[in-house]
Amino acid sequence: MDMRQKLQEIHEEAKKRIMESEGLDKLNEVRVAYLGKKGELTALLKSMKEVAPEDRPKVGQLVNETRKKIEEILDETRTRLEEAAREAKMKEEVIDVTLPAKKALIGHRHPNTIALEEVERIFIGMGYEVVEGPEVEYADYNFTKLNIPEDHPARDEQDTFFINDSILLRSQTSPVQARTMEKGKLPIRMIAPGRVFRSDEVDATHSPSFHQIEGLVIDKHITFADLKGTLEEFAKELFGPETRTKFRPHHFPFTEPSAEVDVSCFKCGGSGCRFCKGSGWIEILGCGMVHPHVLEMCGIDPEEYTGFAFGVGLERIALLKYEIDDMRLLYENDVRFLKQF
Ligand code: DAH
Repeated sequence: MDMRQKLQEIHEEAKKRIMESEGLDKLNEVRVAYLGKKGELTALLKSMKEVAPEDRPKVGQLVNETRKKIEEILDETRTRLEEAAREAKMKEEVIDVTLPAKKALIGHRHPNTIALEEVERIFIGMGYEVVEGPEVEYADYNFTKLNIPEDHPARDEQDTFFINDSILLRSQTSPVQARTMEKGKLPIRMIAPGRVFRSDEVDATHSPSFHQIEGLVIDKHITFADLKGTLEEFAKELFGPETRTKFRPHHFPFTEPSAEVDVSCFKCGGSGCRFCKGSGWIEILGCGMVHPHVLEMCGIDPEEYTGFAFGVGLERIALLKYEIDDMRLLYENDVRFLKQF
């Protein structure tokens, strides 16, 4: 019976093509070619009409058996190909555990921030409040209320960035003193950190924008002794318990008397070294007793209240504390520099 032979041939041929299939796509093509709607086996079933009726069950059974056999090889082959594909993928995706790991960069606080937090910690510990004032300020607060007269060189456009005649970028944090006093809540114990601006050329010790921390205490019976005691304590906390302080007479328009404060060099202890340029002392701040004119202009009776004020350069503290010799390093934001602190 040539039907049997034909089926045998189809089976052999299908088996051969299945074995030769090199991928799942190819395999599927073979499946469609034999078992699909227009496939060879299906076509054969359709031609059953030509088979004599008594032979049909026999032929039908043969076709089904062949179909089953082809399906079996297809299934086996598919499993094998799928396995091979998975293995190839795994090989490709293999993780090399010996590769050096990528180190995650962790952020660091800026030396200015560390120094500021240190200063704040010290004064908060002494009962001070931390307040802020505007960076864009009235000339009135930056100068007039601080007893800086119209013709004072500090008002010169060469030093101060004016926005118009009466508005400027504050050249110091001292205007926050006037703003705080004007509020009229007494006594006052505050520090006011913030950014200030001056038209300076950039070099190792200057920048057109830097930071100051202003301090102000107003109460009854405040004397220069309170100022000295407070700043001595501050210096010891900041630079170490052996630190000595020296008050040198100075002049600021808003304080009377005024002083500049030096601390004994924390590098050599005061004997003189490269760090303190041989003098044994390092200048750190300006201070004084708040001028009676300033108190009056800010609505405080100088007969009843007295007070002291001081101004510290934040960058100066950061540079000293971390022995950085160029202020520009603080503004370049090079992580290799910053991550040292
Ligand atoms: N504002 C001053 C400056 O920029 C610093 C200063 C000195 C502030 C003496 C004060 C002070 O409060 O009493 O140079």
